[in-house]
Amino acid sequence: MRIDILSAVPDLLKSFFEHSIVKQAIDKGVVEIHLHDLHEYGKGKYRQIDDYQYGGGAGMVLMVEPIDKLISKLKSEREYDEVIFMTPDAPLLKQETANKLSLHKNLIILAGHYKGVDQRIRDLHITKEISIGDYVLSGGELPAAVLTDAIVRLIPGAMSDETSALTDSFQDKLLSPPVYTRPAEYKKMKVPDVLLSGNHKKIEEWREEKALERTKNIRPDLL
Ligand code: ADE
Repeated sequence: MRIDILSAVPDLLKSFFEHSIVKQAIDKGVVEIHLHDLHEYGKGKYRQIDDYQYGGGAGMVLMVEPIDKLISKLKSEREYDEVIFMTPDAPLLKQETANKLSLHKNLIILAGHYKGVDQRIRDLHITKEISIGDYVLSGGELPAAVLTDAIVRLIPGAMSDETSALTDSFQDKLLSPPVYTRPAEYKKMKVPDVLLSGNHKKIEEWREEKALERTKNIRPDLL
């Protein structure tokens, strides 16, 4: 898979991708991440990429031309399955969305900034808009990193323990059950006996029961 990420501050994303599961996946050759700086396509001597909004109002808007130039160039080089815009005024990111996107070959992710992007970019190029939550961040870089991580960890071969991505919370619309590791007892708190029993059927039943219990208590809306 290839993911092209377009941003006004691509350096914000660099260190994340150099120290994460995504880095592991890049090293294994299962994904290529290409970061693009919108300023390289900016206007004039100062590489301008934003301007005041028509009709007045606070906040700068990312201009149509630099983004159009960059996306058009990328599209002329290969076919993209989706051109995604990270924005709070969009459907929420769900595990299902990440599952579907992880099956694609080429993706573009546009990280917004300032007040937003000129609507014409959305009309011209964007095929999917995604929000990572009902709150506003100062830029789309963290949301782009969140989406990329959620997608990349699902690509076969990206993680060392492949089965663990499939047993994550949300994969079956349930939260994960509690997990424990050594020691078996700590400050008088014991690991549940069933987990030490070696009885796989019983362990599976216990995990299902706890997953359901947790979901009922914490996220009943998922049921
Ligand atoms: N940009 C700013 N806030 C955002 C959010 N919640 N989701 C996606 N992109 C954003």
